Amino acid sequence: MGRIEGRVALITGGESGIGLASARLLAARGARVHLVGMNREALGAAWEELGRERCAFSVADVNCAEHVRAAVGDALDRFGRLDVVFSNAGIAGDIASIEDYPEDVFRRVLDVHVVGTFLLLKYTLPHLGPGGSVIINSSVVGLTAEPAISGYATAKHAQVGLMRVAAREAAARGIRVNTIHPGPTDTPFQRAVEQTITGLSEEMAFEVFDAMIPLGRHATPEEIARTVLFLASDDSAFITGATLAVDGGMTI
Ligand SMILES: NC(=O)c1ccc[n+]([C@@H]2O[C@H](COP(=O)([O-])OP(=O)(O)OC[C@H]3O[C@@H](n4cnc5c(N)ncnc54)[C@H](O)[C@@H]3O)[C@@H](O)[C@H]2O)c1
Repeated sequence: MGRIEGRVALITGGESGIGLASARLLAARGARVHLVGMNREALGAAWEELGRERCAFSVADVNCAEHVRAAVGDALDRFGRLDVVFSNAGIAGDIASIEDYPEDVFRRVLDVHVVGTFLLLKYTLPHLGPGGSVIINSSVVGLTAEPAISGYATAKHAQVGLMRVAAREAAARGIRVNTIHPGPTDTPFQRAVEQTITGLSEEMAFEVFDAMIPLGRHATPEEIARTVLFLASDDSAFITGATLAVDGGMTI
């Protein structure tokens, strides 16, 4: 199951949370991983941890075309091929009603998730071949909505439209493109969001969110990584254009 040996995966936001958990799992299964992110120190730590034979990294802002093009070039120079792309970089934006939501934050959230994923597709698709797989990390709120997250939910829905166009365009070349939709996943990113939304302490906010999830708990980053592995490998060879919820039942 989950055969990925010898393949090369480029992972944005690969230095922490879900991206790092995915890099660890793919590398443990014999893939080589190129991490792309903003935090040089964390990227360097991941590089040391995963090993220089299996891992390389680029510091890049996914919202900048030059950065993305250079990062893709780095991956190709280092590993000579590209098989899997995980568009995972993300930011939460503000928690505020639409009338109070700052316009610049709204634009920035769309820039990172939507323009960032567009640029990643634009500069990686030409280098993928038959069997290639692109996974875009949307969210449960790419399928549903909650109050006060207009920037984030809009961006996560927009990633679905982008995925569908890319899946249509790439299918003829045997390349698959899918979105995943995690529910609340235990990362510092999510803990900060939950505290802001609830106004409670970290632990109390965590419990409030546990109670909202039908399976009664947050996902671990490793559980989301196993879904990434599934979509990256030939186990999912006939799945493209899919929106795969990994949310403990939140979209039921
Ligand atoms: N944690 C959750 O509950 C949850 C649920 C659903 C979806 N997601 C999505 O999963 C993804 C990863 O989130 P996480 O929880 O692991 O958080 P995280 O903060 O640990 O990871 C986000 C990563 O994105 C990188 N990043 C941010 N802006 C960037 C930019 N402009 N260019 C390059 N890299 C950038 C950060 O450096 C960081 O490594 C995000 O897209 C998030 O929206 C998270």
